[in-house]
Amino acid sequence: QAIAVLDKFRRPLRDLRISVTDRCNFRCTYCMPAEIFGERYEFLQRADLLSFEEIARLTRIFVGLGVVKVRLTGGEPLVRSEIEKLIVMLADVEGIGDLTMTTNAYLLPQKAGTLRNAGLPRLTVSLDTLDDAIFREMNGRGFGVGRVLEGIRAAEEVGFHPIKVNAVVQRGVNDHTIVELARYFRERGHIMRFIEYMDVGNLNGWRLDDVVPAEEIVARIDAEMPLEPAESNYRGEVANRYRYKDGSGEIGVIASVTQPFCGDCTRLRLSPEGMLFTCLFGVNGTDLRTPMRDGASDSELTEVIRGTWSVRTDRYSEERSSMTDELRARRKKVEMYHIGG
Ligand code: GTP
Ligand code: 5AD
Ligand code: SF4
Ligand code: SF4
Repeated sequence: QAIAVLDKFRRPLRDLRISVTDRCNFRCTYCMPAEIFGERYEFLQRADLLSFEEIARLTRIFVGLGVVKVRLTGGEPLVRSEIEKLIVMLADVEGIGDLTMTTNAYLLPQKAGTLRNAGLPRLTVSLDTLDDAIFREMNGRGFGVGRVLEGIRAAEEVGFHPIKVNAVVQRGVNDHTIVELARYFRERGHIMRFIEYMDVGNLNGWRLDDVVPAEEIVARIDAEMPLEPAESNYRGEVANRYRYKDGSGEIGVIASVTQPFCGDCTRLRLSPEGMLFTCLFGVNGTDLRTPMRDGASDSELTEVIRGTWSVRTDRYSEERSSMTDELRARRKKVEMYHIGG
């Protein structure tokens, strides 16, 4: 039986997002620009990463504090070797109602079956456009769309269905391709979701003008394929859902810039080296690895986590609009590739 823990705004802890590596085989321009993350960039060393045993142990502790939803992210989770072993361990943890992963799908053609067999119930794939030239630019590595679609097909074949497909929308970059994305995945029975481009981290040179408001995204799709709003699946759901009026499926839009959802934010993030972040835009994390490796007991670790959550006051997305550019620039935020989406 979990003991609920509330933060300063009375938000419970419900979701855990575990980043299993800071490495990625892509170099998306808005996340890990290739000029910065070149050959010589130093990623975390193996010994710095939490082991699967350590991650599973912490997960059990988080579940004891109310976590019911767990997502594996990165970096790119599939570049962590033998990630399927972690899935086997997490699939075994009692109390997790929803276990899933966000991947760029590049390694899915060879990994989909292994993930399924390991007990992964569900999958989200990141894909920003179906336009090959634009995709090659956006992923910073010149990879074509074909490989990602092949990965999605492999996932379908082993039984992942529906798959959620996430696209970050940037004005003037891929926004003219959103209707095509929506149509393509509607035909295949998957759930397309469009994310407002955010100022995550400090490297992507984000400007408000680059954001296409969710309302505009919905209007553009609605003009071609009529939509109607749908209710949330649960309180605090990140995506606003819309159904196609002809019954052919649904989409989601994540309006983190124009309609922030901090009020219901129940998410905690664990970094690959065992730091806890209570916000996607966090600055300082809480180190769990040191006490754990110094021999802390489960109840001692529980107290560290409870303490961290109970003083939480994060609401960055709601504060953003009243912050000056200068104030935003001074905040040294954790990077997306480090703590995942
Ligand atoms: P489902 O359980 O499949 O509905 O997943 P989800 O709604 O948690 O969505 P997902 O994890 O796929 O998140 C989609 C995107 O929303 C992420 O990649 C982030 O860009 C954004 N996002 C998720 N959580 C937060 C959050 O706490 N704050 C902000 N600002 N953005 C978030
Ligand atoms: N704004 C919005 N979404 C982002 N993602 C990465 N960087 C950003 C950003 N700046 C998305 C990825 C992926 C998920 C992990 O987060 O595209 O879908
Ligand atoms: Fe890798 Fe995802 Fe960042 Fe792209 S957004 S570089 S796929 S971690
Ligand atoms: Fe939660 Fe921070 Fe995102 Fe707000 S900005 S929804 S507090 S993670």
